[in-house]
Amino acid sequence: MSNNYLYIDSIDKKPINRTPIWIMRQAGRYLPEYMDVRKKHDFITVCKTPELATEVTLQPIRRFGFDAAILFSDILVIPEALGQNLAFLENHGPKLSPQILLDKDIEKLNLQDIESKLSYVGDAIKMISTELGGKTPLIGFSGSPFTLATYMIEGKPTRNFKFIKQMLYHNPERLTSLLEMLTEAVSRYLVMQIEAGVQAVQLFDTWGGILPVHLYDPFSARYMKQISANLKKFGVPVTLFSKGGIELAKQLSDSSADMIGIDWMTDLKEAKNLLGAKFALQGNLDPTTLYGSHDIIRKEVTRVLEVFGPESGHVFNLGHGILPDIPVDNVYFLVDTVREISEKLHAQAV
Ligand code: CP3
Repeated sequence: MSNNYLYIDSIDKKPINRTPIWIMRQAGRYLPEYMDVRKKHDFITVCKTPELATEVTLQPIRRFGFDAAILFSDILVIPEALGQNLAFLENHGPKLSPQILLDKDIEKLNLQDIESKLSYVGDAIKMISTELGGKTPLIGFSGSPFTLATYMIEGKPTRNFKFIKQMLYHNPERLTSLLEMLTEAVSRYLVMQIEAGVQAVQLFDTWGGILPVHLYDPFSARYMKQISANLKKFGVPVTLFSKGGIELAKQLSDSSADMIGIDWMTDLKEAKNLLGAKFALQGNLDPTTLYGSHDIIRKEVTRVLEVFGPESGHVFNLGHGILPDIPVDNVYFLVDTVREISEKLHAQAV
């Protein structure tokens, strides 16, 4: 089916005249207009108020004209809908309580009516879609089951992931039962997002990389693959993003996903050799490149774009989320540079 979305055309490997670009965490604290909203409303209120979520989703689109919008929300709305208390403490990151440690904690989680508990997300999607007016596709998202489990079990940001690793090694069946429940929750949540109107979805597996490589498939990748299979019949492209290098990306290669997100630690050329025939790839400029000079940014952008040259099948992105203190000017420069260089590269295709 033809559409006028460059982002979708590149995922479908249709001919394109330049490489589409959006950036992970594109709506957020590096934007002064986002900080203005946050002065008046706390983060969770922004997520739960469709008008505010719509406003901040659109902010980076208005400024930079990105080729995709991403729903403004957070991965931790699922644990909250399942029954944990969610708080974002200023400068301390997210807190979920009580921690999920025992079988009885899992039994208390409630999958019932998860769609209606998260209906504010569907309302935001409808409002955002109206505003986008078919000009820019909207990406929905969720955390992967393993990444959600990490936050649910640890309860707060951690360095050594002691509680989830204890469960992994002492009580793997318990962890598996939580992951299975989350696989259902995530699948249902993403179906709800698709029905509300997103044109694509992405799963974020931020913490899969804390697993030893041989345990990545049984505890994280297999659930991401199951979700992607569950979504296949809805016909929207699915992107799987895991952070932790090529070994993890390789373990997603037997999935039915359409695009694999490549982190900044991975060599994009190697990823293309291993995965590029089957999937489109997204990534993977190191986000901290954006602290650099324009010359450095240009050099690094060129390096990333030259991996694909004139070919379709690449969506330009950072290899993880943009950081809050990146200068906005450098984001303008990034977007202009990606457009300019990729247009030249694609002109060579004709
Ligand atoms: O990409 C976008 O612009 C859409 C919005 C989005 C947010 N979080 C907004 C947000 C998305 C896609 C996420 C995903 C998310 N949330 C992930 C996966 C992606 C990744 O970065 O690895 C994770 C692990 C979270 C959990 C989370 N949310 C953490 C750890 C934090 C605190 C750390 C931090 O960066 O402050 C958040 C808060 C959060 N989520 C903010 C935003 C804009 C900052 C909140 C604020 O305004 O103070």
